[in-house]
Parts: sequence; C-alpha cells; structure tokens
Amino acid sequence: MTEQVGGTVDTARARGLAHPADAPVGHYRWVYLWHWPIRAMHWVAAISIVLLIFTGFAIGRPYYLPAGQVTGEFFIGWMRLIHFIAAGALVATVIVRVYWLFAGNRYERFAALLPVRPSDWVNMFKQIKYYLMIRPERAPRYLGHNPLQQLSYTLIYLVAIVMIVTGFAMYGQANPGGLIRGATLWVPQLLGGMQNVRLVHHVLTWAFLIFIPIHVYLSIRADVIERGGTMSSIITGGRFVRSDEEFIDG
Ligand code: HEM
Repeated sequence: MTEQVGGTVDTARARGLAHPADAPVGHYRWVYLWHWPIRAMHWVAAISIVLLIFTGFAIGRPYYLPAGQVTGEFFIGWMRLIHFIAAGALVATVIVRVYWLFAGNRYERFAALLPVRPSDWVNMFKQIKYYLMIRPERAPRYLGHNPLQQLSYTLIYLVAIVMIVTGFAMYGQANPGGLIRGATLWVPQLLGGMQNVRLVHHVLTWAFLIFIPIHVYLSIRADVIERGGTMSSIITGGRFVRSDEEFIDG
C-alpha cells in the first residue's frame, strides 16, 4: 500500500514500523548529501569521542579498571596523553565543521542545523510521533537532517564546545603563566571555581553516553526501514531515494 500524505509518499511508514520497505525496485535516484570533509570529520569525531570518554573516566576515577591495571607504570600518564591527542582531533573536527557551515551545500550549512521555522517545529513533533510509532505515515520526509536531528546535533555540537572550553581550562592549569591558562581564566570564574569546571566536564560526558546509543540505533533503524542506504551515506556521501518521492528539503 502506498499512501500520499501532505506531499510525501511512503510505503514502509504507511504499513507500520514492523515492516521494512518493499524491496528496492522501480526508479531510484542517488542524491549526494555529504562532502568528504564532513564524512571524514564525522568518523574522526566518533573515534576521538570514544577515546575521550574512556580515557576521561580512567583519569577521573581509575578505580573502575580491574585491580592491577592502574598500577602499571605511567598508566594515568598514558591516559592523559591519549585524552589530549583525541582532544586535539576533536578541536580539528569542530574547526572543519564550522568552516563547512559556510562552505557546504544546503544540507551542511547553518540553516540545515537550526530548526528555526514554525513548520520545522510542527515537523519535529511529527517526527517524534513517528519514532514513538504514533501515526508513522505522517512523518515528514527529509533528504538531509530532519528537525529532530537538527536540534539534537546542534545540542551535541554545543556540548562538544563546552567540553573543549572546560577541558582547556583544566589543561591550562599545568602552566599557570601560559597562553591557554590566560585564555581560559574566565571559565572557572564563570562556573564558580575549577572544581565546578571539572564537574561540568565530567557530567557532560554523560550527554555523549546517552547520545551515542540513540544516534546509532536511529541510524540503523532508518537504514533497515527505509532501505535507502542511510548508513552508507556517511561513508559514500549519498543515498538512494525513490524518484517519485517528494522531500521537504528536496
Ligand atoms: C567529548 C569530549 C570529552 C570527553 C567525553 C571528556 C571526558 C573527560 C572526563 C570524564 C574526565 C575526568 C573528569 C573527572 O575528573 O571526573 C576528563 C578530564 C580531563 N579532560 Fe576531558 N573530555 C573531553 C574533551 C576534552 C578536551 C577537548 C580537553 C582539552 C584539552 C580535555 C581535557 C581534559 C583535562 C585537562 C582533564 C583533567 C585531566 C587530569 O586531571 O589529569 N577534555 N575528561
């Protein structure tokens, strides 16, 4: 069954979420969404964030590791070194991403990351209902990020920036007369002391721990249900969509 809803055509959603889309026959077109710097930075950020979480927790409370492992020579030193190298990689991804907000295509630019129009919020609500399996046939169809993705990705970018700022504020302590310390003195002043800086850095780590499984689950889910190669789009840059399908951002 194919249902036409507000300019959208969908088979899988119309039939309910338990069933994946029909086998991909008919006319499909390939749309190019993500330039290679965006894809490369996605994977660099993914690897560095995993390393930052693991090494960060090891620095903050090494006791969760099996007895004996912490006593190895220079264990925390290695954890800190990996943490700081991964931090540098994360900063590089943020710089590239910010540049691409201006240089990218319509799916990569500012507008695609900020649900600012009233219709975006209406569509976000419909998207939430789709994920909750309520009226899935009404879900809005996007080629790039849907408004819920726009909001959640923008929030996680902001969290990453707070992690970088608080991280460098702590890092600067090692050299009190240095440039980094001087540039980040405002951070402990704003947050009420270095202990609070550390607390914010620690607590926000959990934002990533919550975000990552949801992000991976929803990506795999979209790939399975829509059968358009959503997962491979972050490797190849594009995905397949039916030629007769209309998209809000198409
Ligand atoms: C996704 C990003 C990041 C995550 C998840 C993360 C996670 C953590 C965690 C959990 C801790 C331990 C906090 C505690 O004491 O309980 C930590 C410590 C630390 N992090 Fe990060 N971090 C991130 C990014 C950064 C960045 C960009 C820097 C910049 C240099 C940084 C520098 C530091 C420093 C200096 C410490 C304290 C190290 C020490 O006490 O020896 N972090 N991080």
